[in-house]
Amino acid sequence: MKPKKIAVFIGSLRKESITRKVGKALMALAPESLILEIIKIDGLPMYNQDLDEAPPFSWKDFRDRLKGFDGVLFVTPEYNRSVPAVLKNAIDVGSRPYGQSAWDGKPGAVVSVSPGHISGFGANHHLRQSLVFLNVPAMPQPEAYIGDAINLFDDSGNLSNESTRELLRKFMSAFSDWVARNTAQM
Ligand SMILES: Cc1cc2nc3c(=O)[nH]c(=O)nc-3n(C[C@H](O)[C@H](O)[C@H](O)COP(=O)(O)O)c2cc1C
Repeated sequence: MKPKKIAVFIGSLRKESITRKVGKALMALAPESLILEIIKIDGLPMYNQDLDEAPPFSWKDFRDRLKGFDGVLFVTPEYNRSVPAVLKNAIDVGSRPYGQSAWDGKPGAVVSVSPGHISGFGANHHLRQSLVFLNVPAMPQPEAYIGDAINLFDDSGNLSNESTRELLRKFMSAFSDWVARNTAQM
């Protein structure tokens, strides 16, 4: 079967983001049935409904690119027990104009990342709440809450924790099955 194209969204803009490191580890551990690409979300002007009639080029480009993917993977930190604004903004931009959401029907998965022990649970589930409305079937199991994340990587940014590596590998394998089950066979 043709590999499925997956758009990866990282909810942190920070240069040394642990979330991005987890995202890159997930991409490296994915099976060959998935082709993953990080889609940048930092250049999107804040969503404003007044601009819907003449949207900024970056919004149109983002929506058009997103429509070319088979599935979506969100890797996010937690800000104040919720989804960072930059990620929520990308979700809102992709969801409009009304009735033309670029997210519609794409299977997805959520991974939350935190240096703390609650492991981004709040962000993970707030994000899932939006995905229900967007008709993005989010993989229910396995869940992925990556806590104590600062201690999982070596100085070169490589994932050095073997049990986390195994967990991420299983997650991506399950996600590949989930995408295959939730997309039309081609
Ligand atoms: C505005 C803000 C709010 C935060 N709120 C939370 C939170 O609710 N829960 C949590 O576990 N960490 C919280 N943190 C800490 C982040 O988890 C931590 O900064 C983490 O490194 C961010 O991810 P990154 O390394 O990918 O940028 C917050 C950080 C910031 C800047």
